[in-house]
Amino acid sequence: MDEMERIVESAKTCEEDRIENSLRPQSLDDFIGQDKLKKNLKIFIEAAKSRKEALDHCLFYAPPGLGKTTLSHIIAKEMGSNLRMTSGPVLERVGDLAAILTNLSEGDIFFIDEIHRINHLVEESLYPVMEDFELDIIIGQGPSAKTIKLPVPHFTLVGATTRAGLLSSPLRDRFGIIEHLDFYDIKDLMRIVKRSASIMNIAIDDNASEEIARRSRATPRIVNRLLKRVRDFAEVKGGKITLDIAEEALNALEVDNSGLDKMDRLILTILVEKFGGGPVGIDTIAVAISEESDTITDVYEPYLIQSGFIARTSRGRIVTEAGYKHLGIETPKNFQRELI
Ligand SMILES: Nc1ncnc2c1ncn2[C@@H]1O[C@H](COP(=O)(O)OP(=O)(O)O)[C@@H](O)[C@H]1O
Ligand SMILES: [Mg+2]
Repeated sequence: MDEMERIVESAKTCEEDRIENSLRPQSLDDFIGQDKLKKNLKIFIEAAKSRKEALDHCLFYAPPGLGKTTLSHIIAKEMGSNLRMTSGPVLERVGDLAAILTNLSEGDIFFIDEIHRINHLVEESLYPVMEDFELDIIIGQGPSAKTIKLPVPHFTLVGATTRAGLLSSPLRDRFGIIEHLDFYDIKDLMRIVKRSASIMNIAIDDNASEEIARRSRATPRIVNRLLKRVRDFAEVKGGKITLDIAEEALNALEVDNSGLDKMDRLILTILVEKFGGGPVGIDTIAVAISEESDTITDVYEPYLIQSGFIARTSRGRIVTEAGYKHLGIETPKNFQRELI
């Protein structure tokens, strides 16, 4: 399946950038849910501001669409600093990093998205930068090569990753603040639906908000995407988003009442039909559905696990009783509950 076509795809598409920016909360108070994280960040930001220092380097890890980029914007706003953004794969050479670092001012926020994909030479040159605010640059080659230390302003590195496990420990250890973002509960998702609807200037019923919230894989980016598509249906039908309209639109988009789309259901079905419910290794699943194993691990699996339809065991992935139930297939008699 073409990834760009996937309505519940949590990675964003370019066309979404503009709308995403208009719906992005601008302050921590505006940022819905993640209460523990917000409370911590508030304290760290207040403390850094009162000491007139840059905030400690922050690492946010979470599946796509849960608010990592938004938090980097909010931190910059709350600290009253500039935000410089780049991503791991873009920083190909140490020179690319040097060009950005030498243009930073004291207290700036430097955001590196997908920091787990940074090249190891660039990563190593980040260590002294993060620790001592010095960039080591090698001039010349061979025996006459010299290292010079370039001072860098005290800035805050904000890293975002979908997979903290892929980060080397020397890099991880240099972040003072490490926070995981959780999937959102229905209550918070409903607040996001209502907030976005009011920014988009559309009327929506409570039970329609709940329906959209329930089908959005616990992910704000998907809430906003589904809301936009439901709005299209509502506009054709006269305006307000009611439960009927929301259901009709979501059914037409083939997002089921647990937020699973065709691809998720395909993964579940293949696990059951071809592999007797598992355990199956991730690479085997990848071959069976012609997808990259990374995409399965980053995009599909977290929500299937979160919703309790599959479980990760030491021997591979298995379909749970809830997974069988969701497919409307009877749980096999020899189902090994102790595997879970
Ligand atoms: N806590 C939140 N409250 C309200 N909207 C949110 C929240 N988190 C994310 N969003 C919305 O979801 C979209 C995706 O968030 P983003 O920060 O880009 O995700 P990530 O960088 O983790 O992939 C943004 O448009 C933002 O408006
Ligand atoms: Mg992002």
